[in-house]
Amino acid sequence: MNESRARSAIIKPADPATIDAAAERLREGGLVAFPTETVYGLGADATSDRAVAAIFEVKQRPTFNPLICHFPSIDAVRDVLPVPKAAAALAASFWPGSLSIVLPRPANCPISKLASAGLDTVAVRVPDHPVAQRLLERTGRPVAAPSANRSGELSPTRAADVLESLGDADLLILEGGPCRIGLESTVVAVHPDGALELLRDGGISREDIASATGQPVRVVDGPDEVRAPGMLARHYEPHIPLRIDVTDPREDEILIGFGPPPEERPDSGYNLSRSGDLREAAANLFAMLHDAEKSGAKGIAVAPIPDKGLGRAINDRLRRGAAATDCP
Ligand code: TXA
Ligand code: MG
Repeated sequence: MNESRARSAIIKPADPATIDAAAERLREGGLVAFPTETVYGLGADATSDRAVAAIFEVKQRPTFNPLICHFPSIDAVRDVLPVPKAAAALAASFWPGSLSIVLPRPANCPISKLASAGLDTVAVRVPDHPVAQRLLERTGRPVAAPSANRSGELSPTRAADVLESLGDADLLILEGGPCRIGLESTVVAVHPDGALELLRDGGISREDIASATGQPVRVVDGPDEVRAPGMLARHYEPHIPLRIDVTDPREDEILIGFGPPPEERPDSGYNLSRSGDLREAAANLFAMLHDAEKSGAKGIAVAPIPDKGLGRAINDRLRRGAAATDCP
């Protein structure tokens, strides 16, 4: 981010008219920071790859972690993906509230693949805060929102903390007072076989979850760094070999380009951004990888991506994908 750029984030009191304007801003692809009962979230339209890419850009995350999608009600969740029985039991006990539920992602899910970081799951939550509730209702779309802080900083529990961390972003911050809970939500996965797994501790304990569902909760064991937020989600793994930094693809590979294609090789139709725009590239990344997997090619080759700004997060994901498919 350019250091000399003037601050452009602004804080406004979250009165009804301002919340409605914020909803409009989200629908147009803009960013809105809003209070929830846990922490302030940095929200964007979860169905727009470009809007979700802007979240990662503004947070300056060196990697793409999957994001929690926020809804005003369980019915709104059901509009975009099926809610299995075990998840409905959790929702009945804890929503609205500080529980995020990771669910299998159906093939026709309208949520951005970037919000899922390329995984076949989606995290959903119905927050219990009147400002968040009205904003989500008026937006009428799922809103992806990580904590509204720059990567590596503390999660914000006051609007002023958001301004301090993200002040130079093009961002509307809704002032809704200090967050009641001040700790991020508990994250639990409901697997396709109905098994429950605790992915992140929070105020709702595994015992609470077990007694609400009558089911045991599996806990990921391991050192703190393995259990830390973001580390728990499995990473996207392509089903065919992936090579990165490729300028000279093999015959049986499909090349995903970046930037204007070289004259001697017009691009295959797969290009993350012909104009070399990293935000556009991030927005296209997972959808293009998924399509390339299905193209019938034996492998995927990705052109070099500059390792700056969002390019770092793109390269991080590509490196992991390449390592996962590194066949001897
Ligand atoms: O309280 C909260 O959860 C706040 C407010 C704004 O809702 N949000 C928040 O988001 O803390 P974030 O991005 O800072 O943390 C999201 C956590 C990460 O640990 C991420 O790995 C996990 O949720 N997560 C999200 N989607 C997931 C998925 N599909 N599979 C596994 N883990 C997921
Ligand atoms: Mg966070």
